[in-house]
Amino acid sequence: MNEHVRHANTVPLISKERIEERVRALALEIRQVYAAEPPVVVAVLKGSFVFVADLLRALGLDCSLEFISVGSYVGAKSSGAVEIKLDVSSDIEGREVLVVEDIVDSGLTLDHIVGLLQAKRPKRIMVATLLFKASAFRGAVKPQFIGFEVGPEFVVGYGLDLDGRYRWLPDIHVASEVEARGSPADK
Ligand code: IMP
Ligand code: MG
Repeated sequence: MNEHVRHANTVPLISKERIEERVRALALEIRQVYAAEPPVVVAVLKGSFVFVADLLRALGLDCSLEFISVGSYVGAKSSGAVEIKLDVSSDIEGREVLVVEDIVDSGLTLDHIVGLLQAKRPKRIMVATLLFKASAFRGAVKPQFIGFEVGPEFVVGYGLDLDGRYRWLPDIHVASEVEARGSPADK
């Protein structure tokens, strides 16, 4: 029985080893950009909580951390109405801001988050996302730092959920496969 089978009865799409390696490389890339001035890292809840914990430690910059949470859009995606559930608690005016997302799909959520933050007049906003669904993207703001491009299939693990489940999985899996084959945590 290999390590992966312990967590879900399916071969991961992206193993935790690949994630770890990519996060380290991404952190190096990001560190070059912020050598002169550490950013305020704004993590988008809930999905980015695992990624931001790893990224922040790999960055090795003296950055502060804020969380933001927005509701998902109701009804047609193009209506674009997202409510803010949790706002940043510190002043970001004039600051370097790095938004950290778990996944960018259509990009509409990110557009709204960047719009909300832009209104606070930061010096600059850049975006890091672990996963990017290139085929679905139709947003105005493209993330500058991307961990992995993935296909259109719904994925879970490493913080990402399906109706609140599977955030705890250490690897990233295709949701339909985990649903079909289960995980040892299923009782
Ligand atoms: P967007 O506004 O279409 O970019 O949607 C982004 C949000 O949808 C993400 O922040 C996730 O919460 C959710 N999402 C989109 N695709 C996935 C997926 O494959 N797995 C888990 N959540 C996803
Ligand atoms: Mg999200």
